[in-house]
Amino acid sequence: MSDIAKLQIGESTYEFPLVKGSENETAIDIKTLRGATGGVVTIDPGFKNTGSCQSAITFLDGEKGILRYRGYSIEELAEKADFLEVAYLLIFGELPTKEQLDKFYNDILDNAIVDDDIKKIIDAFPKNAHPMGILSSLTSALTAFNPSSVNVDSDEEMYNAIVKIMGKFPVLVAWTMRKKTGMPLHYGSRKLGYVENILTMMFQKPNDEYDINPILLNALDKLLILHADHEQNCSTSTVRVVGSSHAGLFPSLSAGISALWGPLHGGANQAVLEMLEAIKADGGDTKKYMGKAKDKADPFRLMGFGHRVYKNFDPRARIIKKAADEVLGDLGVEDPVLDIAKGLEKEALSDQYFVDRKLYPNVDFYSGIIYRAMGIPVEMFTVMFALGRLPGWIAQWREMRLRKEPIGRPRQVYTGANERSFVKLEDR
Ligand code: SDX
Repeated sequence: MSDIAKLQIGESTYEFPLVKGSENETAIDIKTLRGATGGVVTIDPGFKNTGSCQSAITFLDGEKGILRYRGYSIEELAEKADFLEVAYLLIFGELPTKEQLDKFYNDILDNAIVDDDIKKIIDAFPKNAHPMGILSSLTSALTAFNPSSVNVDSDEEMYNAIVKIMGKFPVLVAWTMRKKTGMPLHYGSRKLGYVENILTMMFQKPNDEYDINPILLNALDKLLILHADHEQNCSTSTVRVVGSSHAGLFPSLSAGISALWGPLHGGANQAVLEMLEAIKADGGDTKKYMGKAKDKADPFRLMGFGHRVYKNFDPRARIIKKAADEVLGDLGVEDPVLDIAKGLEKEALSDQYFVDRKLYPNVDFYSGIIYRAMGIPVEMFTVMFALGRLPGWIAQWREMRLRKEPIGRPRQVYTGANERSFVKLEDR
């Protein structure tokens, strides 16, 4: 393949360089397009064919179902690493030595207290407020208590902002859940690990010790790893675009949380459980819901199915499906919605509509079944997704700022009224 692309518009031919990535992905660099052509731009709703950046963090191949963080396969990381190691890998680019990991975690613990006035903000929310709305607000509010914006030119200040949010975010997540469950807001302990603290802050009762169940600990650690990054998805692109205006790390993350909330994105894990419950309540009639999913006149979609990039099995879904079986088996939990999910998957994988459109289970299809077995309320499922995605958002924001990427500001093609003169009210 030559290293240029040629574009013919009318009688003119324009040449643009090709950019090739380390996994042989190829892009046409159209930085000069508008200037060279006198104003022509491209248009690509949903950016299905458009790269927003070059990145060294996560590689995925949708056709082959490959996902790697900094070159390490998701299968290996889910099996051999823990979430804090993976967070360090995503953010700083290498697996940490023991000394580096210990320092990282100690620095996180030193920053794992939030200003007590945050509790006043939590108190102000109605009990039925959706946890994603609470979490997005609290994350943005952190700026009020940590006003120093991130000086990205200083490694030390960038590092301090990172350990600050890595320390405080799990507290905000746990307190968001305890607002829903009516439990007092408390902290974990320096004696506990990162994910152990998350479970303790979420579940410990005020009048009892909390014994960490190793099955739940392992399941949560694995789920957080599997959600940690996913290249330029909707919420990560949001974090990058907001950060490109030089807004701080915390407000950029708050925007990402709002983007993740949507049912077409991270909100799908909650929508999947609600869908499975509806099918169960409807007598488990999966064929009826498959028909609805294929009916263009019906807005119903098979939640947890399909993906913008994966046109094969989402590798995360494979791992989570296996983990769901193991966790429910180990806990001795019988959950009929797991059987309904498996029935839906089986039917969809042999249904022409789904086969033609390459619609497979994605990361959200089975994750909620594990969260529910862990005793996490369904409205908290997307918050758990955000907890896992935090290091990926941080890594992508840091890369964008360190590379001094320009402010994100797409062009458009105007299709509205041509110039016309104002008409006075009495003449209309
Ligand atoms: C995540 O991008 C990421 O990386 C995201 C994520 C991450 O880690 O950050 O992986 C996390 O968001 C996973 C996706 C969770 N969302 C859902 O499960 C919601 C259900 N899925 C769909 O809404 C949909 O599949 C999307 C939004 C995920 C992807 O949509 P696309 O790529 O824009 O595809 P499309 O909407 O153009 O659909 C193509 C065709 C259409 O039919 P036709 O018009 O060609 O006849 O497939 C159909 C769609 O109607 N289709 C579905 C379907 N998903 C797509 N039909 C029924 N059920 C579905 N779930």
